[in-house]
Amino acid sequence: MSWLLCVLFFYKSSFILSQSVPLLLLVSFDGFRFDYPRLYGPLRYFSRLEDQGVHAHSMIPTFTTATFPNHYTLITGLYEEVHGLVSNEIYDSKTKSVFQSWTNMTDQWWPLKSIWTINEERYDGRSGVIGWPQHSISISKYEPYRKERSFKEIIDRMLKWFNDPIKPINFGVIYFPEPELTGYQTGPYSDKMKEIIKTCDEHLGYLLNEIDKNVNLKNNLHLIITSDHGMEEINATDKPIYLEDYVDMTKLKAFGTETVINIFLNSMNDIDDIFKNLSQIPHTQIYKKQDIPIRYHYKNNLRIGDLIIIVDPGYELHRRSFHGGIRANLSTIHGNHGYDNQMDSMKTIFYASGPQLKQNFTLSNTSTLYNVDIFALMCLILNITKCPPSNGSLANIQPFLIDPTRVLSIIEKETGKLQDGSISLVIYLLG
Ligand SMILES: *[C@@H]1O[C@H](CO)[C@@H](O)[C@H](O)[C@H]1NC(C)=O
Ligand SMILES: *[C@@H]1O[C@H](CO)[C@@H](O)[C@H](O)[C@H]1NC(C)=O
Ligand SMILES: *[C@@H]1O[C@H](CO)[C@@H](O)[C@H](O)[C@H]1NC(C)=O
Ligand SMILES: *[C@@H]1O[C@H](CO)[C@@H](O)[C@H](O)[C@H]1NC(C)=O
Repeated sequence: MSWLLCVLFFYKSSFILSQSVPLLLLVSFDGFRFDYPRLYGPLRYFSRLEDQGVHAHSMIPTFTTATFPNHYTLITGLYEEVHGLVSNEIYDSKTKSVFQSWTNMTDQWWPLKSIWTINEERYDGRSGVIGWPQHSISISKYEPYRKERSFKEIIDRMLKWFNDPIKPINFGVIYFPEPELTGYQTGPYSDKMKEIIKTCDEHLGYLLNEIDKNVNLKNNLHLIITSDHGMEEINATDKPIYLEDYVDMTKLKAFGTETVINIFLNSMNDIDDIFKNLSQIPHTQIYKKQDIPIRYHYKNNLRIGDLIIIVDPGYELHRRSFHGGIRANLSTIHGNHGYDNQMDSMKTIFYASGPQLKQNFTLSNTSTLYNVDIFALMCLILNITKCPPSNGSLANIQPFLIDPTRVLSIIEKETGKLQDGSISLVIYLLG
């Protein structure tokens, strides 16, 4: 009898408590370009999400527009030069260590508290993450990325965590590798892309329907559907450009992707010679570190090279000595990303819904949303009392809120004006 009472008590109290912390599910569909819904629509479930929530015409990722850096930006609200995950392949000139997203991942590359850890530090906050592109994550519920896992399986597991009768999570995070994989194989304009976008829409439909079946989730869950970057078409893989053909590789180290490469010089005496040689590479922009345009927010970090090569959209710069990379067979590559984050083709999607958000609201294409802004929105939705400073702007997310004065309940401390005129804020939420 007392045993039963005990169970009932715990069941009941966790149920009550689970009502008191806001619920949020963040979903990233990798490489979902902002205009896929227009190119391949109408998409039934994305349209339904538009009606029931808010969405932006497009969202601008952070430079470099690579997968790992932008996923870290989404959950920290920081530029790459600040969080330090500056590429999918990084050289740390201080520790002399190398990060390669496809082989070597250790905790040292993710030193900052992300939103799911901050959520766990609050009373009765529990987070669950499935497959996020990051090294092992220590929170209540975590399962690493598994290629063979279906979207439906991921959703079933995640909703089970939300519905756990004893210790439900209140914040869930999901990563799904499409449509990026198809983007690499076919480029953004293909029948296969059309197909995979329809499939992503059906995945979204499954998620929305499962949420609607559960009264608590239907009424209380906030949902954010977004992505890390867009996708550009690549043509000239039959005539690849190689870095080794332009510069003496014994004088430098090169790290990065096929679209942005950081060059670390063995001797600064060579900088002008090497700069001159690199400037011969077609379809690229070369900068000395101090001359990298401010708008990239990609300069103040030891992991950014003495010289940086930014490839023009539609092209790639390869390295012959680049072993273990994912780009073995160039003829199979028809899409890529990583380019200038202001290019339309690099822009991505943002949709959200839930009790604190407006319905049927579109942020027009004259307003600009950056992915650094999403962190503060998540803090606000989760009602986290103290969030660390981010590079986002509250003004950019305010239009989404039913109660725009919620952002006024945040103590705003201006820590400095950005060059482009937006404001960097320190935010503390008042319970
Ligand atoms: C620059 O290019 C020239 C001609 O290809 C080559 O001889 C020279 O070694 C290169 N210099 C450096 C510093 O890479
Ligand atoms: C690639 O080819 C397509 C179709 O021919 C063309 O529209 C596009 O401009 C090309 N891109 C580049 C970077 O040359
Ligand atoms: C959403 O808004 C648009 C224009 O603002 C309007 O035409 C449409 O009927 C609305 N849809 C719903 C479901 O309210
Ligand atoms: C971005 O945020 C960090 C952390 O608050 C801050 O140190 C940095 O100055 C900010 N960068 C810009 C360009 O505002």
